[in-house]
Amino acid sequence: MKTTESLWRVSVITTPEAEDAVAELLGATLHQPVSTWFNLETGVSTVTAYLPQKLMTLGAPASRRRISSAPVRRRHSQEQVRREILEGLSRIKQCGLKIGSGKVTIAKVRREDWAESWKRHFKPIEIGNALLIKPSWSKKRPRKNQAVVILDPGLSFGTGQHPTTAFCLRELVRGGEIKTCRSFLDMGTGSGILAIAAAKLGYSPVHAFDFDPEAVRVARANARANGVHKKLRIVRRDVTKLPIHPVRQYDLICANLISTLLIAGRRRIVAQLHRGGTLVLAGILRSEFSQMQKIFEELGLKLAARKVENEWCSGLFCFAEENIWKNLNDKHCDWSYNQERKQSAAADKEGCGAAKLRNMIT
Ligand SMILES: C[S@@+](CC[C@H](N)C(=O)[O-])C[C@H]1O[C@@H](n2cnc3c(N)ncnc32)[C@H](O)[C@@H]1O
Repeated sequence: MKTTESLWRVSVITTPEAEDAVAELLGATLHQPVSTWFNLETGVSTVTAYLPQKLMTLGAPASRRRISSAPVRRRHSQEQVRREILEGLSRIKQCGLKIGSGKVTIAKVRREDWAESWKRHFKPIEIGNALLIKPSWSKKRPRKNQAVVILDPGLSFGTGQHPTTAFCLRELVRGGEIKTCRSFLDMGTGSGILAIAAAKLGYSPVHAFDFDPEAVRVARANARANGVHKKLRIVRRDVTKLPIHPVRQYDLICANLISTLLIAGRRRIVAQLHRGGTLVLAGILRSEFSQMQKIFEELGLKLAARKVENEWCSGLFCFAEENIWKNLNDKHCDWSYNQERKQSAAADKEGCGAAKLRNMIT
């Protein structure tokens, strides 16, 4: 039977940097599942939890007991919820994370609205004329010759909404235009979005791996749902344990991984790259990028292009003298490089990320 009882929506506006900490805070405060949505256009993250109507009262709390230590089904008061969240945000700030506006909104929503409303956030994404990524409920039709990837948001990372994934998708499309650039390796595949897109764009062979067995299961299911499961191989693997002398090397590699992993696995990552190939490194904070660039350039690579989006910086690396990407689209690379050099220098000044990374690898 369909219930029409209303829900309380509690949401906090924050930054991608603090979204995980804020999600923890909301989960611990309300004892409810929490979702996070990153808006690609505004660069703002919204962390949201929904509470059944009967679990929230309007008045002041009956006792001064902390909500987070209360039993799961206990009633919360609006006032107390707001206060606990604000206190938690200030603790997160004290830990050094930028929390952005930290605006807390508590609003009553109709259950039917809520059940469908999250779908509004997941809009189809087009990467030029070549690729369309869309959720299963979207009715958007592909253009002529446009490859389509159907992906619903799930627990594994990767719907194309995140700037780091979007950067990798753009490079996949550009690489797909080069007929000699065929083999593809997706390091940390998450939902499988990049590997599935690569298979649809005609890369072959396409290999992908993830450390998380659940991600491997989800990526395989997504590949099957997109009808490309026979065209790609997805396995469980740890990037830090890749062979240093692999039997196969790839023309294009995407590694959308956190900086610590990129550093820990740097030699093994580069070892998988074909001499004329291109390595896409994403998932790097702006403040950490120049140090990351240095580390990979020490291994014989050269930065061909980079893109800064919000606090993320992603880069395209090639072996020094065999840069087919750069030859293909020199203008694009120079534009990105010059345009963002200033921004990146400013980011380096402001952050202590580079120093942190330096300590980590020395
Ligand atoms: C940011 S997600 C990227 C997902 C997808 N490739 C994309 O671009 O949207 C990073 C993925 O790396 C995986 N991962 C984390 N540690 C790893 C490791 N040591 N080896 C391989 N994959 C790892 C995570 O499970 C996660 O699925």
